[in-house]
Amino acid sequence: MSFRYQQLANTLLNDIHQGRWQAGDMLPSVRQLMQHWQLSRATVLHALSELELQGYIHAQPRRGYFVNARDSQAHNNTQQTPEAAPRLFSINDVVHDVMLKGAAFDLLPSESRFDAKPPALELLHRAISRVMRHGKGAQHQHYEEPAGLLELRETLASRLRQQGTNTVASDITVTQGCQHALLLALKSCTQAGDVVAVESPGYFGTLQLLQELGLQVLELPCHPITGLAVAEVADALTRWPIKALVLTPSFATPTGALMPLEARQQLAQLAKQHQLTLIEDHIYAELAFNGETLPPMLAFAPQHTLLCGSFSKSLSRDLRLGYITGPAFSKRLPHLKQITSLASSRFIEQGVDDFIRRGDYDRHLRREIQTLRVQRNALVELLQRTFEDGQYSIPEGGLCLWLSLNPHVDTLALYQQARREGIVITPGTMFTSQPGLYRHCLRLSFAHPWSAPRRQALIRLKTLCQQLSSGEISEI
Ligand SMILES: Cc1ncc(COP(=O)(O)O)c(C=O)c1O
Repeated sequence: MSFRYQQLANTLLNDIHQGRWQAGDMLPSVRQLMQHWQLSRATVLHALSELELQGYIHAQPRRGYFVNARDSQAHNNTQQTPEAAPRLFSINDVVHDVMLKGAAFDLLPSESRFDAKPPALELLHRAISRVMRHGKGAQHQHYEEPAGLLELRETLASRLRQQGTNTVASDITVTQGCQHALLLALKSCTQAGDVVAVESPGYFGTLQLLQELGLQVLELPCHPITGLAVAEVADALTRWPIKALVLTPSFATPTGALMPLEARQQLAQLAKQHQLTLIEDHIYAELAFNGETLPPMLAFAPQHTLLCGSFSKSLSRDLRLGYITGPAFSKRLPHLKQITSLASSRFIEQGVDDFIRRGDYDRHLRREIQTLRVQRNALVELLQRTFEDGQYSIPEGGLCLWLSLNPHVDTLALYQQARREGIVITPGTMFTSQPGLYRHCLRLSFAHPWSAPRRQALIRLKTLCQQLSSGEISEI
């Protein structure tokens, strides 16, 4: 369940998006909102101030709250928007530095050794060991077929059908994680020089792949609450020859945005009209706090979608186990898999399949979602106390939120300073190909428990921000 003020803010925001309230309109009074929603005055004011901070509305003393003109409805009042033209680019070094330590989601990697191991991992280890114990010698001598273990593909297909798709096992190829799936997706529908649209801010691993494959990137603005705006996609399609669009409709990184159902349906229509391939990053979709996964793009435009997923965020990053599916590409995908990694580990595939079929994965997911929700709430409370001047998204799932600071705070300089103290942040510039963009923003993860040292690390970040802003410590 989300905070009540957030539910109110989201409803009002939806009304503004749908045109119920237009620029210049006065919103219902605080008293009316209190009565209608049965909320306290403080909660209503909190919701309105969220929308005000994000640039959607403004207050007029003694009159009420008014909807702003569309131009000023930026994601927040400091956000910059990406340049609207495709181009080749080269990635920022910070990405390599953060990823060398593999710690992109932990503010304080040294603390991880104290974190409790989820009980499900013990069951997973047992399932994999069992398979290895009973495995035949021949399994060590032969590669698995490129598409991957049939039983696991059947299990995955059945899970995707429960989410509203018509997936069958023969459409699925097992991969070495979602990053590998994204590589296969891009390779199956683009050639060097093609234009690929991405969310901005968006996942840096996608940007790395585009750079490596010599693809031109077109960054489309991604709203921290509702994700990619379909109108922006429609507009871009009239101007540029876009081959593919990479998007994370459910709990995108770095914002945690969730694309509403209607927007998904509209995007599917656009993809069909323009022969656009949607590369859907589904990696966070099972981490919905209300337990309800919205149907993926694959459900609405199956012939135009390549869905990529993995167990990295929901179970273990170390499994290196993912999948890709898209009926229009079923023949090409196993071929590309075979070229890029020959085969997957049969023991891992069998072990994970066994783990899922016993119901252990679903039990684990239910527990994990509870934990993540508690950790998200703890982070939001910490931010309310520590970064009072910051603006942040409050996602309904996934692992992270997007924090926007005062425009003069440089999170790249903050990254360098914090790094010396063992604190790892993911600065905003990691999530764009455009130098200087989102420099005052950062992604914060709630994937780990808020132990006292992690809380201290967050408070320390605030102090470092203040010291950098006042010049007490210098930027590099
Ligand atoms: C949005 C997104 N897609 C893909 C990946 C890569 O996932 P995997 O570990 O399964 O390769 C990540 C990892 O951070 C991610 O955040």
